[in-house]
Amino acid sequence: MSDKDNDIIVCRCEEITLGEIREWIDRGYGSAGEIKRALRAGMGPCQGRGCQDIIMREISRRLNIPLDQVEAGSVRPPVKPIKIGLLADRGE
Ligand code: FES
Repeated sequence: MSDKDNDIIVCRCEEITLGEIREWIDRGYGSAGEIKRALRAGMGPCQGRGCQDIIMREISRRLNIPLDQVEAGSVRPPVKPIKIGLLADRGE
């Protein structure tokens, strides 16, 4: 990908562009976890399922390191809203 792709949204949940991710990689952030903490990319409702692989590939490409050496961020279950009644019913 060239720099003309900088406006592409990589993390749809947090609306983080490829250009923002590249900027932080160039600042020395070299793992998906570091990018996540700096930009919140991967902290949205899907918890990185939609963006983490893309971020890791970009780190690999930009830093010229093998993809399997790029450290992944932590993965948590997706956030799903539930009805408050379900919680209340459990108290009976
Ligand atoms: S697409 Fe990045 S957290 Fe969902």
